[in-house]
Amino acid sequence: MIDNFQNKANTWDNPQKIRMTTKFSNELSESIFLYKEDNIAEVGAGTGLVGLSLVDKVNKIYMIDNSPSMLNVLREKLDSTNINKVEIVEGEFETTNLNHLDGVICYMSLHHIADTINFIREVKKRIKENGFFAIGDLIEEDGSFHGSKDILHFGFNLEKLSKLLEAEGFIILRETVYDYVSKNEKNYPIFIIIAQK
Ligand SMILES: C[S@@+](CC[C@H](N)C(=O)[O-])C[C@H]1O[C@@H](n2cnc3c(N)ncnc32)[C@H](O)[C@@H]1O
Repeated sequence: MIDNFQNKANTWDNPQKIRMTTKFSNELSESIFLYKEDNIAEVGAGTGLVGLSLVDKVNKIYMIDNSPSMLNVLREKLDSTNINKVEIVEGEFETTNLNHLDGVICYMSLHHIADTINFIREVKKRIKENGFFAIGDLIEEDGSFHGSKDILHFGFNLEKLSKLLEAEGFIILRETVYDYVSKNEKNYPIFIIIAQK
């Protein structure tokens, strides 16, 4: 499989990414209660900026990513700590055997996943009743954010994505634009959706 983040992994953790992921983690923690017994998954965990900031609040986090180079950066971080609540899963969520999760997090990764509906269905199947699905991603943009035609989704229409989640049986607890990322002399809005099964 092609590693699309090979050239980005080693410099991923820059001040902008740290600010954005911290803001998402705070937004998530203010929107739902994470329990010490929770077993959650983060899809597109990358170098672990979001997941590692939440690790103390839960029992276990499965950090899933299909980029070996991003996961290598995460492994190096884990090697220098005594964190034992993280299990790294290399690949795609849809093909793992994870089940009975208390929640799934997906930050800035949904736009890289080809089949959004199938992904939503897989999340719903693999979380417990009342489990949460938290998405943070770009609002619909003109393609200039990545500047590449290879990106699968140029952000999302917040209303349409919420309706899609509702159609698949989720209840929307929160949907709002809460942040911006500056790039190419533009501000790209970022939303959070917290959905519950
Ligand atoms: C924009 S990065 C975000 C990383 C991390 N969430 C962060 O904000 O620092 C997107 C991540 O999703 C991963 N990814 C893309 N498609 C994926 C898929 N189908 N399954 C799992 N991970 C995927 C990429 O390898 C990359 O690490």
